[in-house]
Amino acid sequence: MHIDHIGIAVKDLEKSISVYEKILNITCSKREVVESEKVDTAFFQTGESKVELLGATSADSVIQKFIDKRGEGIHHIAFEVDNIENEITRLKNEGFTLLNDSPKQGADNKLVAFLHPKDTSGVLVELCETIK
Ligand code: CO
Repeated sequence: MHIDHIGIAVKDLEKSISVYEKILNITCSKREVVESEKVDTAFFQTGESKVELLGATSADSVIQKFIDKRGEGIHHIAFEVDNIENEITRLKNEGFTLLNDSPKQGADNKLVAFLHPKDTSGVLVELCETIK
């Protein structure tokens, strides 16, 4: 497994894109709205891993709820896996709580599943598999 990306919840996506373009000295490599999750995303390629900025597209988006509760900041860490179904089964057997029992469509051509932060030292962990 390697870190595929770190997801950061932001209030103003356009503003944060320009901030991260300055920090990383590269331009945003991908923009994508995920309608089902009510998020607007922007990716920056940083070596093998990416930074994913996440903005809410609606007041009832999970990202908006996160920001209302905790403010802007790191929202999740995503690990790339070869077979997400196998990893979900393996981690359930290890006693982890999955936020979704079957993989769902995420941004950036991925199938994704999340582990509940109560089992992961407070970090929302995303498993992701690139759709071939
Ligand atoms: Co993510």
